[in-house]
Amino acid sequence: MANLALVGLGPVGLTTAVAFAAQGHRVTAVDIDAERSAQVARGEVPFYEKGLEAALRKVLKQRRLVVARRMEDAVRPSSVMFLCVGTPPRPDGSMDDGPLRDAAKMLAAAWGDGRPRTVVVKSTVLPGTTESVVQPILESAEVPFHLAVNPEFLREGRALEDALRPDRIVLGVDGSATARILRNLFHSAKCPILVTTLRTAESVKHATNAFLAAKVSLANELANLCDGFGVEYDTVLQGLALDPRINPKFLVPGVGFGGSCFSKDVHALIAAGTKKGYRPQLLEAVLEVNDRQFLRAIAPLEEELGSLAGRRIALLGLAFKGGTDDVRESRAVPIARELMNRGATVVGYDPAAMNGFAKVVPEVHLAKSIEEALKGADGCILQADWPIFSRLTAKDFLAGMAQPVVVDGRRILDRKKMNGIRFHRIG
Ligand SMILES: NC(=O)c1ccc[n+]([C@@H]2O[C@H](COP(=O)([O-])OP(=O)(O)OC[C@H]3O[C@@H](n4cnc5c(N)ncnc54)[C@H](O)[C@@H]3O)[C@@H](O)[C@H]2O)c1
Repeated sequence: MANLALVGLGPVGLTTAVAFAAQGHRVTAVDIDAERSAQVARGEVPFYEKGLEAALRKVLKQRRLVVARRMEDAVRPSSVMFLCVGTPPRPDGSMDDGPLRDAAKMLAAAWGDGRPRTVVVKSTVLPGTTESVVQPILESAEVPFHLAVNPEFLREGRALEDALRPDRIVLGVDGSATARILRNLFHSAKCPILVTTLRTAESVKHATNAFLAAKVSLANELANLCDGFGVEYDTVLQGLALDPRINPKFLVPGVGFGGSCFSKDVHALIAAGTKKGYRPQLLEAVLEVNDRQFLRAIAPLEEELGSLAGRRIALLGLAFKGGTDDVRESRAVPIARELMNRGATVVGYDPAAMNGFAKVVPEVHLAKSIEEALKGADGCILQADWPIFSRLTAKDFLAGMAQPVVVDGRRILDRKKMNGIRFHRIG
């Protein structure tokens, strides 16, 4: 079992820390946000992630995971250190490597002895970042290091499950010694492990997100076309899936993708590619389609109700998807703003994301329950795929709504149970 340090206690860092600790490693985690660190040390998860809090409490109790106040207390006992800090977008869409740079500097300054250690970049970074940002910092600090990249593929809402049982592991390494260290660390994993160069591993993560984002936008485009032709998208998808080259997963149309990764990473790839002399036009189109897709959820309300001025619209699901309280790039944000621009009153409800959403769009009224959100509403948009929403039937909508106009923006409602309401979905 290894001594590991995890730097950054966001969804990625904390979930990885808990998963490693649950596998028996001794993990020290650290975050520059003192309040967040204190919360985690008390056994509280600062964001909504099913199952994570119970697992966190268990490993804290066993002392397999400790939260350090200072970077040196995390670095000194560790042989492998994972950088899990954010890589947010700058206003022009390019990747801000500032937090990664700072974390690498803090880590190098805390080294304290001549022991060789392995630094692993887990944050999503553009190809070449680890070599151009992290490596020079460690070199100039004159510490003996191995360098690796281990992109994270976990899905919020299923993060712990994904971290404990990944379906693939990608390791970018600076040489065979580093490869041995990391293979050893992941020896119990029952999934394919791809060992490659640092920048190839970085590219795999970006290629994955670009591909998945493109799939969603393609599904949306096809569904929008189906709407125009009066064709049922579900049957088209069935037909697509008969082609062995087409995997039907992630081809479900809706209001567009949100979350902290797809849009940010595709923007960063476009900005970096363009700077290198290649303008990725297909990826630009992926974002364009996504940026306007949310309007497809508003159009049926206007068709049914006419002007939305003075209308009361229930918005179910404020997080970017079900199972999380993350509102970063949530499609609920442009939907709510557009509805209000058109004069509607928006009443939102989400099982976990109300506080986060209120900080971004404070004008939205928040309801305490689905029933309260629907009460007196002239229309309803279902924006996030929480299981509790998928169980709704026509009866639930008819019970409280002034006019039962419902747009399923995630295709989670059972259409057979929608008799008696004016039910719409994309495609
Ligand atoms: N959230 C996801 O589902 C997901 C999935 C795969 C990959 N990623 C990538 O992983 C990275 C982390 O994502 P996240 O959502 O956990 O990020 P986040 O921004 O939510 O959390 C990052 C944490 O790092 C801390 N931090 C920043 N600088 C620090 C420093 N110098 N020392 C110690 N702590 C520091 C912050 O205080 C914060 O708590 C990003 O690059 C992201 O793109 C995220």
